[in-house]
Amino acid sequence: MPTETLAAITPAETLMQISGGYSLSRCLHVVADLGVADALDDQPRTAAALAESTGTNADALNRVLRLLSCHGIFESRDGKFAHTPASRLLRSDHPRSMRSFVRMIGLPVNWAAYGKLDHTVRTGQSAMAQVLPDGLFRYFADHPEASQIFNQAMMGKAQAQIAGIVGNYSFSDFNLIGDIGGGQGHLLEAVLAANPHLRGVLFEAPHVIEQASGIASDRLSLQSGDFFKDAMPVCDAYLMMDIIHDWSDEESTRILKNLRRFAPTHAKLLLVEAVIRDDSKPNFVKILDIHMMTLVTGRQRTWHEFETLLAGAGFRLEREIDAGGEFSILEATGV
Ligand SMILES: C[S@@+](CC[C@H](N)C(=O)[O-])C[C@H]1O[C@@H](n2cnc3c(N)ncnc32)[C@H](O)[C@@H]1O
Repeated sequence: MPTETLAAITPAETLMQISGGYSLSRCLHVVADLGVADALDDQPRTAAALAESTGTNADALNRVLRLLSCHGIFESRDGKFAHTPASRLLRSDHPRSMRSFVRMIGLPVNWAAYGKLDHTVRTGQSAMAQVLPDGLFRYFADHPEASQIFNQAMMGKAQAQIAGIVGNYSFSDFNLIGDIGGGQGHLLEAVLAANPHLRGVLFEAPHVIEQASGIASDRLSLQSGDFFKDAMPVCDAYLMMDIIHDWSDEESTRILKNLRRFAPTHAKLLLVEAVIRDDSKPNFVKILDIHMMTLVTGRQRTWHEFETLLAGAGFRLEREIDAGGEFSILEATGV
């Protein structure tokens, strides 16, 4: 909640709003799951009409949309609901759709893990281990529907990052670039499109490579494996977007040391991460940090934490390039 908003309300209201804030989050997850935004086009519609299209209860949907519309998601207008820029992003057919991202955050396993956040705070261990002993990525490998939501979510959230990476970093000195844990290859495809001299390798877990098989070309090859232990491609640059934040320092060191076994010393390692700042701004990075702590074993890190982590795995952190929003490209090279 922005500090200006907090300043304008009483301390008791601050506690009421934040302690009950999960009701707002949950309404958003459910509306995204039910496809309510897909049932609304440019013409405002009543909750009853939207309920009929989505197979939901008109009164309950009306109350949920009334709450969301107070927060800029849909607009209440003359007894009907209309789209806002935020609600349009919940449509499945929006080119920068965030529907899957919202559904992914609200996946039942994530919701269940948040119910056990006290365990994390008491022990420092991921709450998800109480829900899924083998962890979230194993769960995705075994649950194709959830995996598809996750993969689409990554493509959705990456849209904002991709423009900043392609626009702010020069790939002209490289010939072969690896995207390690690159999901469906959305970032790699964009980098190759903007740099016609470049070839790329998408390295991913086997179930993700299967889903990405359609993107292979004479310039883009696919390699499946486990980045903790398997052979990695030998490239002159590596992208790792939102990978290291998923893992503890010990796990991240294993991933980076494994990469270092195959990365030539001159190769550039480009970590795309939201660096956590030592300030009191209530931004999304600090929420993401709690997601990483609760849902996986990771964390958002400071520049200094990245520097130490990379040094322990045979890389030197050299510079930070602003990639827009809260994201940075952290450029490292082998030592
Ligand atoms: C947070 S997603 C990031 C995806 C993509 N880089 C992006 O930012 O849009 C993490 C990715 O790491 C992959 N991954 C997780 N464990 C892996 C492993 N052991 N080996 C290879 N890839 C793995 C997942 O399949 C997932 O696509």
